Amino acid sequence: MKAEILKRLREAGGYVSGQELCESLGVSRTAVWKCIRQLEDEGYVIEAVRNRGYRLEDSGDVLSEQELGKLLSTRWLGKNLAVFDEVDSTNNEARRMAEKGAVEGTVILAARQTAGKGRRGRSWESPRGTGIWMSFLLRPEFEPAHASMLTLTAAMAVAKGIRRATGLDCQIKWPNDIVINGKKLCGILTEMSTEDNQIRYVVVGIGINVNITEFPEEISGTATSLLLESGQPVRRAILVDHVLSAWEEYYAEFLKTLDFQNLREEYNACLVNVGRQVKILSPQGAWTGVSLGIDREGQLLVEKPDGSMETVVSGEVSVRGVYGYV
Ligand code: ATP
Ligand code: BTN
Repeated sequence: MKAEILKRLREAGGYVSGQELCESLGVSRTAVWKCIRQLEDEGYVIEAVRNRGYRLEDSGDVLSEQELGKLLSTRWLGKNLAVFDEVDSTNNEARRMAEKGAVEGTVILAARQTAGKGRRGRSWESPRGTGIWMSFLLRPEFEPAHASMLTLTAAMAVAKGIRRATGLDCQIKWPNDIVINGKKLCGILTEMSTEDNQIRYVVVGIGINVNITEFPEEISGTATSLLLESGQPVRRAILVDHVLSAWEEYYAEFLKTLDFQNLREEYNACLVNVGRQVKILSPQGAWTGVSLGIDREGQLLVEKPDGSMETVVSGEVSVRGVYGYV
């Protein structure tokens, strides 16, 4: 019924009375109103005027299966697509779908997450309609040891997608964040299910702050959005397409060698703090050194003050600038 109401609003080009919708669809006013609310949650802007009815405005930022399906220019990623109004976490939803046999390349998006999550059980702020809260499902045949590099391919795709969609240059904060002007714009959470040292599936979750104008106080000093950085609202569906298309290309390159041999140079060119002092926070303690970029296994090379080289493996480690988050 939602699709039918949308169709009628589109065809009318002007106001359609609520009464007319109820009668022609044989449903109550409340049912029509609920559909209008759902359409608004997807990003449609609908004006409601007493005695005239509903009118669809030309809205730029719709993220629905229908709109995205039309727009996606990927070869295989997202051919199976699910867009939810609300889920706990798109990563959790992807895992549930994976357990039920969803195909490789399934993409899940939600207008809002009620329990968006970051690494190590941290929470991820995911307000309605203003971000890209997205996960995709992979069933790769390589060994689990290679999977951490998927986070790095996703980071490259986000950086390229943002550049293509907005012209903004952002940087990667190894291993799983995208930053711009020293603030966090995007986080990536890769989760894997294995059995007998074989991958059952991997879920790559990407959260991009797109049109958010205000953050909770705890993160307002470190978080930012594309709208805050550029002053321009960004159409999420277009950005989703750019990110997924770029990721397909990086993934194809990664699969050739199962490491970062061919991608390392481009990755390091996007990496924040190369050649600068960074602080490594590990469960064993904190230390500082100069970041030299990643090696072909995707590990961060850091030169210690005594001149020795340390390879930092992602996982339990956080990297910070010496004076703050970046
Ligand atoms: P690390 O370097 O270990 O990745 P991090 O602080 O970036 O450290 P993550 O687990 O990667 O930690 O990300 C989760 C953190 O990101 C949360 O604890 C919170 O501080 C912050 N955060 C939560 N929601 C958002 C958001 N929408 N945008 C930016 N930052 C957020
Ligand atoms: C981080 O910075 O620690 C990672 C944040 C990852 C957030 C995204 S939003 C889509 C997907 N669903 C989640 O619950 N988390 C990821």
